[in-house]
Parts: sequence; structure tokens; C-alpha cells
Amino acid sequence: MKINLLTDFTGHNDVLRGEFIAPAYQGKWMSLLVAGSSAAYLCSHWLQNKQNIPGPLRLPIVGSLPFIMGDLREVMTEMNKKYGDIFIIYVGSESIVVLNGLDTIKEALIQNEKLFDGRSQKQFQELTFNLGVASSQGDLWQEQRRFVLQTLRNFGFGRRGMEDYISEEAIFLKKAVSSIDSNSPCDLYSILIKCTCNVICAVVKGQRFDYNDPQYTEYMNLSKEFLSLIGINNPVFVFQLLKYIPGDLFGYKKAISISKDLRKLYKQWIDEHRNRLDNGEEPIDLIGVYLREMKKCKEENQYFFDDQLVQVIMDLFLAGTDTTANTLTFAIMYLIIHPDIQNKIQDEIDHVIGSHRKPTLKDRFNMPYTQAVINEVQRITDIAPLAIPHATTEDVLFRGYTISKGTTVIINLHSVLWDEHQFPEPSNFKPERFLDEKGNFSPCEAAIPFSLGKRACLAESMAKAELFLLFVHLLQNFHFKLPPNHPELDFKGIIGLTVQPKPFTVFVESRQ
Ligand code: HEM
Repeated sequence: MKINLLTDFTGHNDVLRGEFIAPAYQGKWMSLLVAGSSAAYLCSHWLQNKQNIPGPLRLPIVGSLPFIMGDLREVMTEMNKKYGDIFIIYVGSESIVVLNGLDTIKEALIQNEKLFDGRSQKQFQELTFNLGVASSQGDLWQEQRRFVLQTLRNFGFGRRGMEDYISEEAIFLKKAVSSIDSNSPCDLYSILIKCTCNVICAVVKGQRFDYNDPQYTEYMNLSKEFLSLIGINNPVFVFQLLKYIPGDLFGYKKAISISKDLRKLYKQWIDEHRNRLDNGEEPIDLIGVYLREMKKCKEENQYFFDDQLVQVIMDLFLAGTDTTANTLTFAIMYLIIHPDIQNKIQDEIDHVIGSHRKPTLKDRFNMPYTQAVINEVQRITDIAPLAIPHATTEDVLFRGYTISKGTTVIINLHSVLWDEHQFPEPSNFKPERFLDEKGNFSPCEAAIPFSLGKRACLAESMAKAELFLLFVHLLQNFHFKLPPNHPELDFKGIIGLTVQPKPFTVFVESRQ
């Protein structure tokens, strides 16, 4: 997942050239120049934002940056209250329109989907080359998204095939968790992330890794470091000029270097697959199917090429690994502090599945309470609170405002998932929100953690299958408790590309 509340800071040329002014007058001139340039900026702000979209003040150079410091979920909530469901912020020189609330978001992403389904082509250019699925747009994006979706469907994607992949990995997860000493607190997250990454490995390269394989650990560490460097918490993504400062204070160069290493590794995987196909093997994974497609339409299809495949692989790993692992980790955290809810799920599992049969996706229909808990976890943890920024594909007249072509548009999913009219007392964990009076699972229109419309998460069905199967496997076999004297759990997490749980440890007891 990428949250790029970023800008390519172009830097305006109103540098104050104090050295050309006699020292005696310097202070006065400086003040005049500062005041003048500020006024010019405010004027230009007014002129540029002639559609009068409300929003915080735009200051010289930094735009609205001083007003959007801190936890973006809280900042956006305050601005939503103050300015309404559409507001505009400036990050450096770039204008960003923020859409809030279910009705506004539906109107943009469903009623006007073609106008809002672009992606900004500036901020991550150096990392993604605007290729792949998540960062591309137009025909290239449509073609790749269609192909990847189709391929995932052919592997199962909610049907038997994908279910088998996930269930197989769940057995390895169970083994890894079983090997933990019940008297030692364990870092469950580090196991879950290897598990969810293996599901993507199976789909992409038809192979899983042993959790103790040092190469796999090295790969996980590399991706983890990469994710930590490319979040909005890295100022270089806000002020791109900072990347020209000698040294690597903010880790930007490191991020580029890791992305090169990852690309090299993916290229190696592609070459291995190409050799196998050349030796007459049938494709069994996404890379194989993609290479076959490339061969099939070598001449006439401009959208299938090696670099594009490399970026598709990177997108699937980046978007598909920590989203699910983070959600599962938060789920366990909520169950630790709500032992009654943990017991209720385990009663449902014991009743519907028993202690020995493998959980299947069909069980979902008989497990309303577990379904309600998973939906509530996804709502409250709000793993991708600002989705991936969209961009307008044309000049758009939207709710009386003109938004020009190419403007970055943030879809504030947090404003929906934590809307107190939709979900009273949104900060309270209440699975009952998703149950009717008879105890049946009752989905809610405003529960949109995967976003809406044509850009919505490409792997929603797969992610839901993973969450259900892995969660149920865990709770069928284990009971989770907070170790004595453990500091209070932090449910806000760390907001970067996604919301990450802060490190914590847990006691795991076997239920078998
Ligand atoms: C709990 C799990 C997940 C959640 C909550 C989630 C949520 C999201 C959200 C909010 C977006 C942005 C939608 C937008 O821009 O409006 C997205 C995009 C995307 N997700 Fe997921 N996701 C999850 C798991 C996955 C998995 C497992 C995969 C891959 C196998 C995946 C692949 C993608 C891709 C490729 C995109 C970009 C789609 C595009 O730009 O067309 N996601 N996801």
C-alpha cells in the first residue's frame, strides 16, 4: 500500500538576496520582501484556488504543511470537521484535494469513476517508473489490472485453488507458532509477516520459503526496511529537493538502492522462469503466465514487458504482505484485551469446525460472530486510512468545484470507517455492529477498508480469504494472552504506507 501525500517541491524563486542590499537597510528590506513574497503567495493561492475549495492557509514555500503535521488520521478528521467533505491542502507547490465521507467518496469513485481513477505520476516516479498496477494509469493500468485479476482468479481467488494455497501456508504458520515456548513471550508479527509473504510468493513464483531460511529472513528485512523508508514520514517524499543534499540523512538513497536490489532479485526470478518455459514447462504461477502472455503478443502488445512485470511483482509484495499481516496482528491484540470476545470466537470454531478439521472458506457462512469480529478489526484498524492517492484524469466539475486534470486526490477512508454516524463510538471495538438482532452477520455499506470503484484493492477476495483462514487456524489451535507487566498495548500503530502495529509480545498457549 502507498500513501503518497507528497510533492515534487519545485521551489519558487523568491530567494531573498540580502547580500546585494546595504547592511543598514537590510532588515527593513528583508521585512518588506518577506511581507511582499508572502502576499504574492497568498494572492497566487487565491488565484490558483479560484474554485474556492475550502482548506487551511497556503504559506510560502511550505504550503499547508505546518497545518498537516502529526497523525494524518487526526489532522484530516479535524479538517473534515472544519472545512467539510471536500477540502484542499498544499504540500509545497502541489495542490491536493481531500474527499471525505461515504457519499462524497461514492460519488467520486463510483458515479464518476473514470474521472477519479488516475494516479499521480510524480512522487514515486523514481521508485516505480509509473509502471505496474498501483502507480500506473490509463490503458497500461487497465490492461495490467485486468490481466493480474484474471490470473489470480485462475489460481483460485476465492475458489478452491487460492484456498488451498492459503490453507497450506496456514499449516506452516501453525507449526511455527507451536514451536514457541508457552512460557516465553513471542513476537507474533515476525511470524505472521513471513506467512502472508509466503502466500504472495506461492502466487507469484510458485514457491514458498522456510521461515528459518536465512535468505528469506534477509529478503523480509530488506522489504521491511524499504517500506519504512518510503512512507510519508520521510521528508524527502514531501520536499524532493532534499534528495540532492550530500549524504543520506533521510534514507532516500537507501530506499532507491534497496529498490534496485529487489528489482535485481525479481529479474533473476523472471530469468529462471523464462528458462523453464523455454524447456517446455507449463506455467504454474503469475510470472510464468505473464511470460507466456509476453511471448504470445510479442509484436502487437506494448503493455507486457520485463520492467512492467518486475513492477507488478513489487506491487503485489508491497501491497499484499504487510496489509494482511498487520490486520491479523491487530486482531490478536484486540482479542488479548477482550478475552470474552476471544472465548466467544473459540466457542464458535469448536461448534462449527471442531478441533481437528481444517477450516474452509465455506465455514464463513456458519460463523457470523467470527465474520463480525474480522469486519470490526478491519474497520477499527483502518490499515490504509488514506488509500493510495488518486488523481483526476480530466478537468472535473465536482459538487460545484472545478478540480483540474492531474490533481492528486486523497480518498480519506478513515473519515468513513470512523464516521460516528455510521459507527457510533468508533474508537470502541464492538463486533456487534456487524450482527443483526438474530445474531446473523450483517455487512455494513460504510465498511470500506478496500476502498471503492475501479481502483479498489485488486485482491479484496484473496485478502478476505487469507484473513478468515489464517485467523481461524490460529484461534482453533492457540489461545493468546498478554504477558504479565507488559506495557499497555498501543492501538494507534505507526502510520506509514500502512498502519503498522508497534512491537509487542504475547504468550501463546496451545488449545490442542
Ligand atoms: C487486509 C488486506 C488489504 C487491504 C485492507 C487492502 C486495501 C487496499 C486499498 C485501500 C487500496 C487502495 C485503493 C484505492 O486506491 O482507492 C489497495 C490497492 C491495492 N491492493 Fe490491496 N489491500 C489488502 C490486501 C492486498 C493483497 C493481499 C494484495 C495482493 C495480493 C493487494 C494488492 C493491491 C493492489 C495491486 C492495489 C493497487 C490497485 C490499483 O491501483 O488498481 N492488496 N488495497
